[in-house]
Amino acid sequence: MIRNMKNIAIFASGGGSNARKIIEHFEKSDLGRVALVVSNKKDAGVLDIAHAHQIPTHLIGRADFYESKKILSILDEHRIDLIVLAGFLWLVPTYLIGAYPKRIVNIHPALLPLFGGKGMYGAHVHTAVKAAGAKESGITIHFANEHYDAGDIIFQTTCALTEEDTPETIARKVLALEHEHFPKVVEGLLQGW
Ligand code: GAR
Repeated sequence: MIRNMKNIAIFASGGGSNARKIIEHFEKSDLGRVALVVSNKKDAGVLDIAHAHQIPTHLIGRADFYESKKILSILDEHRIDLIVLAGFLWLVPTYLIGAYPKRIVNIHPALLPLFGGKGMYGAHVHTAVKAAGAKESGITIHFANEHYDAGDIIFQTTCALTEEDTPETIARKVLALEHEHFPKVVEGLLQGW
């Protein structure tokens, strides 16, 4: 029996490998489903993934996002309960944080509070981790607030690094952790509701 399924919106700016994992995970869950994919990039791979899974998409422009609250009515229309930021590179505006308190989750490809903040995304993060000679990296899943990478942490896990690691191999290790854990952590949040 389908009971009280929660509707998830994924916001993503890029290829969407995490989005794909979350979509596939929730195709087999009775707690929630991905009901909408939002992107700020018209050629983002995540839009193709959404189309392949027959998930509605919405392309958001900067002015609409920051100077209007149009996205709120779109989220309402799709009865969205939870927003998952999976490689979404724009700062979430205060009005949206306020409308979804503790209902917006972000993933960051490092161990916050290290290697976070404005400009710290994708390869920039792994290059900084390598330059610092870090012995480990990992992932952080946290609630979003109005600052980059600063909300309450929900989950972290690590991977060991060696001197041989390059930013590219670090990226691969971290992405594998993201794919393994992100869908389960989102599911865990829905279980608590
Ligand atoms: C992920 O590694 C995610 O942690 C990162 O973007 C990547 C998106 O990959 N997010 C950030 O760096 C946010 N600061 P994907 O499009 O293949 O899921």
